[in-house]
Amino acid sequence: MMDMIVAIIQPSKLEDVKQALVAVGIQGMTVTGSKGFGRQKGHPMAFLGLYDLEGRPFKVDFLPKVRLEIVVPSERTDLIVNTIVQTAQTGKIGDGKVFVMPVTKAVRIRTGEQDEFALSMEEEAAAK
Ligand SMILES: Nc1ncnc2c1ncn2[C@@H]1O[C@H](COP(=O)(O)OP(=O)(O)OP(=O)(O)O)[C@@H](O)[C@H]1O
Ligand SMILES: [Mg+2]
Repeated sequence: MMDMIVAIIQPSKLEDVKQALVAVGIQGMTVTGSKGFGRQKGHPMAFLGLYDLEGRPFKVDFLPKVRLEIVVPSERTDLIVNTIVQTAQTGKIGDGKVFVMPVTKAVRIRTGEQDEFALSMEEEAAAK
């Protein structure tokens, strides 16, 4: 069993999160710049039901975020999620979100290794 962990975090936290994930032994990750909004719709004041200086409700804005994708054996999922949350958390709105979804197949293209073998460091473990 494998999971994909998708984490949307503040760009300023990327370096810390990467270091923490390497320290707990992740074997790879994908990082993409992204834009998004959460429940404040991109503006802290919108959440309070406030209006702008022209009397209009605050509009929806996209804010810059970073999207991390990490595929791991399922036994590792909680450790990785907890590491991301602990490292990316400031306690301020907009810290981000983490999603976990099952992965049904992984292949290391160079060798054809599949699933957990495609994720692991030990190449010889899966030579087939
Ligand atoms: N339901 C969702 N589905 C997909 N992406 C989401 C969702 N909610 C948030 N995101 C992504 O996460 C980013 C950060 O969301 P954010 O941390 O503002 O969530 P929130 O629920 O509003 O929590 P908070 O109140 O702490 O701000 C968004 O910019 C967006 O990219
Ligand atoms: Mg928010």
